[in-house]
Amino acid sequence: MNVNAAALLALALLLVACGKKEADEPDPSQAVESSASRALEDRRRDPFTYANYDSVRVTDLALEANVLFNEKTLDAVATLTFERVDPAASSLVLDTNDLDIRSVETGGEIFAPTTYSLGPDGPALGSKLSIDLPAGATKVRIAYRTSPDAEALQWLAPEQTSGKKRPFMYSQNQSINARSMAPVQDTPAVRMTWSAVIRTPTDLRAVMSAENDTGPTDGDYTFRMPQPVPAYLLALAAGDIAFEPLSETVGVYAEPSMVAAAAAEFSDTPTMEKIASGLYGPYRWGRYDLLILPPSFPFGGMENPRLSFMTPTLIAGDKSLTGVVAHELAHSWSGNLVTNATWSDAWLNEGVTSYVENRIMEAVYGSERAAMEQALSLASLKEEISEQKKPELTQLRLPMALDHPDDAFSDIAYVKGEFFLRFLEQRYGREAFDPFLKAWFETNAFKAATTDDFRAFLVDRLVAANPEAASLAEIDEWLTAPGLPASTPVPKSAAFDKIDAVRDSWLKSAADAATIDTSAWTAQEWLRFINGLPDDISPSRLGELDLAFDLTNSRNAEIAFAWQIKAIRAGYAPALPAVENFLTRVGRGKFIYPLYRALKDKGELAIAERIFAKARAGYHPIAQRRVAEILQVQN
Ligand code: BES
Ligand code: ZN
Repeated sequence: MNVNAAALLALALLLVACGKKEADEPDPSQAVESSASRALEDRRRDPFTYANYDSVRVTDLALEANVLFNEKTLDAVATLTFERVDPAASSLVLDTNDLDIRSVETGGEIFAPTTYSLGPDGPALGSKLSIDLPAGATKVRIAYRTSPDAEALQWLAPEQTSGKKRPFMYSQNQSINARSMAPVQDTPAVRMTWSAVIRTPTDLRAVMSAENDTGPTDGDYTFRMPQPVPAYLLALAAGDIAFEPLSETVGVYAEPSMVAAAAAEFSDTPTMEKIASGLYGPYRWGRYDLLILPPSFPFGGMENPRLSFMTPTLIAGDKSLTGVVAHELAHSWSGNLVTNATWSDAWLNEGVTSYVENRIMEAVYGSERAAMEQALSLASLKEEISEQKKPELTQLRLPMALDHPDDAFSDIAYVKGEFFLRFLEQRYGREAFDPFLKAWFETNAFKAATTDDFRAFLVDRLVAANPEAASLAEIDEWLTAPGLPASTPVPKSAAFDKIDAVRDSWLKSAADAATIDTSAWTAQEWLRFINGLPDDISPSRLGELDLAFDLTNSRNAEIAFAWQIKAIRAGYAPALPAVENFLTRVGRGKFIYPLYRALKDKGELAIAERIFAKARAGYHPIAQRRVAEILQVQN
């Protein structure tokens, strides 16, 4: 029960006890019910935070932390500045998860200990930290230590890095892991400026999602984030990290042995930034750098402002996987500038970003590549919709009650969201749609938005001027109905039509795979070819392809993954050693969750469990938890 409901219930009991209820008063028992349901209907209130951000809001964080590799711990002091939205507010409620709170003080100029309480550890949400605020206090100062098992943090031994000599650590705070790194109001609805002083062993470098310290590697670094951002965008990494510039304002951080290859692979990043700024207004964050992480990084990329965190599996040697860079860069507008108010509106973040990503790809690499990427995404979305047993999870505007905010990040948010914008683009034309999207970012910059806000903006700016182009019923079908609307645009790729024809004719004949001319195929064409093979293809036919093209050992992680999934489903055993090798080397969720699931579905649970037992210590805690869920083993 929430606070309002509790208060109303108390009032109801009081009224009943006093026998004061009069005929024209509202029935308090009904009031209790409607208030409880109203809480979940309030689509602006994030249910995945304990924070009392309606009455007190954190506006700035000053963090000081020692990075203790031996203890896998941040030994830290967080000073939070807050603002009383409700002048009478007498406590500040923060999110924490697994933090060892050492002391809590309040003050402004001078600090003094205050009383506080730390609630029980709730699943996913962590523990509520309620701090009593004396009148006049404007800051709290909390000394704490993170847990070696903090969900946000991965601590890598030297052997798990590419240089093998020095340890490495990094954070991944989205969606609700910031609270395991620092006591904060961990909701996308609250933004704060922040600064940090980070101490590491003297030969390691710390980097953050902020104005970075470009001084010498001396173990003492200061950072400043002058734009207010939600806590999920706070990010830290420390290790043997080198830097190579790509332009005056764009560069790559990576372990020394990786930095040259990364700089070559991502050399189009400055161009991408120019294109996005041209379409959607100035880039507002100063520098844009990339940090290449060790292969255990659980995502393709993470849009930490000013410093996107990237998986090294994008370094394919041919720029075929740079869509992820376009994607994380695009978040500088959608997500980081205009943020979803709750995770149930994740599509506003990921769907808009996926659309912008594709516009960048089209401008840099041409419309054929953009169309191929659209077609690959749409095929993946269709597969996901057909497998989703809960239709309400195929709506763009998701129910407020989710098991975990991470459940909001499916192809629905990404691809259905992207295709909704493409639908609007087609109906209104780019002449109207591009300025519309730019205005959405400008009007809502540094704010949190809901699906209803987007709908209202759309009606006001596009529908009103051109009511014929799309009906409100069509728009609402996109936003609130499950599945894929009939109005879904169909990507057209002549290159893919050819691939489909080649594949189908090879499948129908007994022709030797080596006769297929693949010399000019791009990675996207290979993916189309492999994904379109039937799951029940005979292992011997997969063997023919493997003999001709050595797909089992592809250097392109996307191709290797697509092939290995097919191999598992078709029971092509020669690929299994490569699957095991991949799963022990790479921790990227997009690859490893489906591979473990495919092994399990194929009745190879024992193999999956054996590989996981060997690989798990190398995974980020997020990936450890997810794989344990898939295989139903103890985490
Ligand atoms: N913000 C996401 C990563 C994320 C989502 C982290 C949900 C935690 C919870 C990032 O922008 C992203 O979408 N990454 C994708 C790549 C993209 C090209 C689809 C990924 O990791 O694969
Ligand atoms: Zn994203």
